[in-house]
Amino acid sequence: MRLILFGPPGAGKGTQAKVLQQKLGIVQLATGDMLRAEVAAGSELGSEADAIMKAGQLVPDALVVGIIAMRIDKDDCRNGFILDGFPRTVAQAEALDLMLREKDMTLDHVISMEVEDDAMIERICGRFTCTRCGAGYHERFQRPEVEGVCDFCGNTEFARRPDDNAETVRTRLKAYHAETKPILEYYKKRGLVRSVDGMAAIENVTKQLENLIAEGGQVD
Ligand code: AP5
Repeated sequence: MRLILFGPPGAGKGTQAKVLQQKLGIVQLATGDMLRAEVAAGSELGSEADAIMKAGQLVPDALVVGIIAMRIDKDDCRNGFILDGFPRTVAQAEALDLMLREKDMTLDHVISMEVEDDAMIERICGRFTCTRCGAGYHERFQRPEVEGVCDFCGNTEFARRPDDNAETVRTRLKAYHAETKPILEYYKKRGLVRSVDGMAAIENVTKQLENLIAEGGQVD
């Protein structure tokens, strides 16, 4: 199964992709995580992307498409994947189509996570992750069971992303509305788009996603 989790920054794409990859046995492909890994590794690509990401702008299509093309070729993608944060422009969506066609693959679902922009600032500014296993948390909505200890690996160190501040989130939301949201029309024409209420509690959003995926089929 191949699906796109679609939505603005803070919609819950990463949170839900991590749950679904366990439940469905397919991998999460998050371009934001891949780019942050390049930055951490100090690669040429990472140094090109670093300032752009900190400013909340979109990294050039060619860089991101190149990363995804290499990733999709890996063995662990054979059973399927969940795209999180990609595609983000119509040009990226077209490049993805081409890539899939060449590999004789199709997209099964494009799921739009419907949320309110105003709530995304609190979600993103309260987010933190475990430095060892990458599990995601939130100061208010998703606290570890034991204060200061990761539920999954027991680590006690957490980090925040450099682009997770109110000013950058506003820029990221603008980029989403200007460059990313038009992709929905692109996929709607093919009857692939369905939506969930992303403002519901995390577990409820998971349930909605599972139900949609179980129903299968195409709608417009
Ligand atoms: P990326 O890493 O993709 O960030 P993003 O799209 O801005 O998305 P986020 O990770 O911020 O949000 P999310 O929807 O995953 O939310 P999460 O689940 O964590 O991209 C970063 C940058 O990289 C971009 O700005 C760009 O520069 C570059 N980039 C990446 N891909 C690119 C591409 N394809 N093209 C060009 N540039 C690219 O949830 C947020 C918080 O809310 C968490 O703390 C969580 O616990 C909480 N939460 C989640 N769901 C709920 C809920 N239902 N109720 C309450 N709280 C919730």
